[in-house]
Amino acid sequence: MTAINQVTDYALVGDVGVITLNSPPVNALSAPVRDGLAGGVAAALADPGAKAVVIICEGRTFIAGADITEFGGPQKGASLFDVQEAIEGASKPVVAAIHGTALGGGLEVALCCHYRVAVPSARCGLPEVNLGLLPGAGGTQRLPRIVGVEKALDMMTSGQHVPAKECLAMGLVDEIVDEGKLREGAAAFASRIVAEGRPLRKVRDLDEKMAAARGRPEIFENFRKANARRFRGFLAPEYNIRCVEAAVNQPFEEGLKTERKMFGELIAGSQSAAQRYAFFAERQAAKIPDVPDDTPTIAVNKVGIIGGGTMGGGIAMNFMNVGIPVTIVEVKQDALDRGIATIRRNYERSRTAKPEETEARMSRLTGSLDLASLADCDLVIEAVFERMDVKKDIFARLDAICKPGAILATNTSGLNIDEIASATKRPEAVIGLHFFSPANVMKLLEVVRADHTSKEVIATSMKLARKIGKIAVLVGVCPGFVGNRILGARQREANKLIMEGAMPWDVDRVLYDFGFPMGPFAMSDLAGLDIGWVKERSKGETIRDVLCEMDRRGQKTGAGWYDYDENRVAKPSPVTEKILHDFIVKSGANPRKISDEEILERCIYPMINEGAKILEEKKAIRASDIDVVWENGYGWPVYRGGPMWYGDHVGLPKVLEKMKAFEAQMGETYKPAALLEKLAAEGKRFADL
Ligand code: CAA
Repeated sequence: MTAINQVTDYALVGDVGVITLNSPPVNALSAPVRDGLAGGVAAALADPGAKAVVIICEGRTFIAGADITEFGGPQKGASLFDVQEAIEGASKPVVAAIHGTALGGGLEVALCCHYRVAVPSARCGLPEVNLGLLPGAGGTQRLPRIVGVEKALDMMTSGQHVPAKECLAMGLVDEIVDEGKLREGAAAFASRIVAEGRPLRKVRDLDEKMAAARGRPEIFENFRKANARRFRGFLAPEYNIRCVEAAVNQPFEEGLKTERKMFGELIAGSQSAAQRYAFFAERQAAKIPDVPDDTPTIAVNKVGIIGGGTMGGGIAMNFMNVGIPVTIVEVKQDALDRGIATIRRNYERSRTAKPEETEARMSRLTGSLDLASLADCDLVIEAVFERMDVKKDIFARLDAICKPGAILATNTSGLNIDEIASATKRPEAVIGLHFFSPANVMKLLEVVRADHTSKEVIATSMKLARKIGKIAVLVGVCPGFVGNRILGARQREANKLIMEGAMPWDVDRVLYDFGFPMGPFAMSDLAGLDIGWVKERSKGETIRDVLCEMDRRGQKTGAGWYDYDENRVAKPSPVTEKILHDFIVKSGANPRKISDEEILERCIYPMINEGAKILEEKKAIRASDIDVVWENGYGWPVYRGGPMWYGDHVGLPKVLEKMKAFEAQMGETYKPAALLEKLAAEGKRFADL
């Protein structure tokens, strides 16, 4: 074995030269990896004993892409294009041996090899779109040539990691070898290629699938139309599509130039900067300064859930999906039956779960009417309605019932968890696990650390969140925690704006155009205006009271803020407009015309200000954690990075100036956070904290 550099070895195995890369954690194409590949290929080509070449990786994965941390920095080491040319133009067959994930630049290197083999658990993908990019190392030109236009468009605009078996079916992989035997399998395959005298197959020269798509621009138009909703606001999907069009309509070298130009535009733009930031922010959120990675954790083999409603049932599914048995406790049999039936229906409706999987998952669920049946659970999550007295009562009883060491969690979306914990004699075991509805779908989990929560309980919760596929963010106890507290600031503004003369559909449109999936009033109509509204106590004092009293309770009654037709399509409502007008006049004011710009600033800047207060009070560890919460729980458009990132990019002095102006006009509620003042004065950003 010869060391090529610190991350690359070369060895002759029989008649095959094997290049091994070993650059943890994911063998990203950093300068040393590119240098190692270049050196390895040169060594293999110069080795008279080597009739073929295999490129393989140590560790958990094949090359998982370009090294994202190098983006924007000076170019060091061998260029990726030169390395790819050396591989593709090699005089001996080169075989990529894939395990883990061959992603982005990693798959693009594999596409320059003459053949590809993989183990069954391997996956291939071009996930650049998720970073606001396109595959910039020939992937947009080579992938369609090998898998065809439709499949390439799907892979490139979804970023999906495609399993080896599917890759084999679509021709992306040439052979699947036994799990755990990749090195031997790939070497045997390479020897066979030589023995059979198979050609040096260059993907760039394939034309059959391009010819099939030539002169059929409707393929692209249909694809755009079918995915318009998913792509809304994002630049990268469209750029990826244009590159595939270039693959079809331009010679290979021209197509590469188009790809390079478009990649250059995307990488210089703010969307990709925001999306790359989001990638690292998500990973950063898992790191808690005073709870190191090696903190002991508690084994969670059985979970109890109190409350079998929408929330409790959704939470239960997360654990059932990963093989953890769940007991749901309800107070009445019919509520329990309904809850369990809803879970089954959710599985049956899901496109991903096969019938036998549904049965396997349902077999992990037990229902009970007795809290005592949670005695042997390692984790209990309370998901009943938001009343402090009820929660305290439940926690006092859990304290008496649950085994020592069990984690006692509450799914409260904003109540004081220290107070809930005070009902027990083990506040160190109490934590908030705030799931978002629908809890089996939404990615975000706010893990709420109370005053006495132990490090073991925090570490276990963070690890468990990952196991059930959630993105967990650790936050502190304060009303609404991080997400709902900031939502409160936006909601207050939305409500105020319509009392000044903006229409609900104006506010919704501005926020929708900003990139949110829905504005607050459309959301309210969807959820129902009558959540928390009590007919007997309603005195027509608020706009909501009036709407509900008129039975305009949202989509379900055919009218709310909006009017709805029989297909539930919303239209601005003259009724709402009149009610608003009357309210404003009654308050002694005059409705005024409010610009879209003011609506946006009034909705967004107070959110940034609230985020600054949260940081000041140390209720979030870092600004990027707040952004992770808003992107994954509240639909903040990822290409705008999250409220704190957005504030940094608008410029904190500007945000401060506006908040001061709002304060002068409208009072104390708008007082700029001290941290905002400080950072703006020092010319710093939230990201510098
Ligand atoms: N560059 C730099 N660092 C990377 C990286 C990359 N491409 N991919 C992952 N990492 C880092 C992560 O930041 C993380 O670091 P920390 O431990 O310090 O937080 C570490 O590697 C492990 O990553 P994960 O926690 O995500 O590990 P995982 O096992 O859950 O997932 C993965 C592994 C599927 C490879 C996932 O990391 C991933 O999706 N990575 C990004 C892949 C990607 O987008 N590749 C395309 C890059 S762009 C490109 O290639 C452009 C081009 O055309 C040339």
